[in-house]
Amino acid sequence: MIHVKNEKEIERIREACRIVRETLEFVGSRIQAGMSTREVDELVERYIRASGANPSCLGYGGFPASACVSVNEVVVHGIPNDRILKDGDIVSVDVVADKDGYHGDACRTFCIGAVSPEVKQLVKVTEECFFKGIEGLRAGTPLYDIGYRVQKHAESHGYGVIRSYTGHGIGREMHEDPSVPNFGRLGTGMRLKAGTVLCIEPMIAMSDWRVQVLRDGWTAVTADRKPAAHYENTVVIREDGVEVLTL
Ligand code: CO
Repeated sequence: MIHVKNEKEIERIREACRIVRETLEFVGSRIQAGMSTREVDELVERYIRASGANPSCLGYGGFPASACVSVNEVVVHGIPNDRILKDGDIVSVDVVADKDGYHGDACRTFCIGAVSPEVKQLVKVTEECFFKGIEGLRAGTPLYDIGYRVQKHAESHGYGVIRSYTGHGIGREMHEDPSVPNFGRLGTGMRLKAGTVLCIEPMIAMSDWRVQVLRDGWTAVTADRKPAAHYENTVVIREDGVEVLTL
């Protein structure tokens, strides 16, 4: 069941989203080669707590850290560890903050040093996929139009759209209905109502979309071990468009 939010609730989600945005800006200003993914997680945790919020991922379903830090072939849910970031890596940092009982969620893929042009293009197109996904989005838009637009853009570049992870609603829970796939057919799915808050998060692979989950039960890698990128924002559906809360 989709929980449509009132303005008071949206204000609280907006506050959580502001903290998430600032956290990612802070990470972006610090992240560099030589740092471990655990150190990235420490930056995230420190910033969120200093902002008077809590890291929603910590302990969620047993997840052991504050952020998902996913390097190169890791698509999502990378567990921060001793892996050292090196020149040419891409690293997605997925941050969810809980401020006074409401969550905000966003992810950025950062380039470390000199990233190859091919991989840079993947990162750029993944970001573009989000903006394609929200093109024309407003109250009354069929839900799967979002995925249709994301998929069309990604596949036009020969990339693979991850199937087994999707965007989602958000609010008092980090994951609420509906599920928001990054693929789909135009004109299908429920018509979205104003006040619906969604996390739209294209996860795009360099070639094949198939993923494997490692034995830790979390880390999702591309089956072909080629890189994947991830870009996410929390948005609210309005009568006449969409408001992005994490930008
Ligand atoms: Co999310």
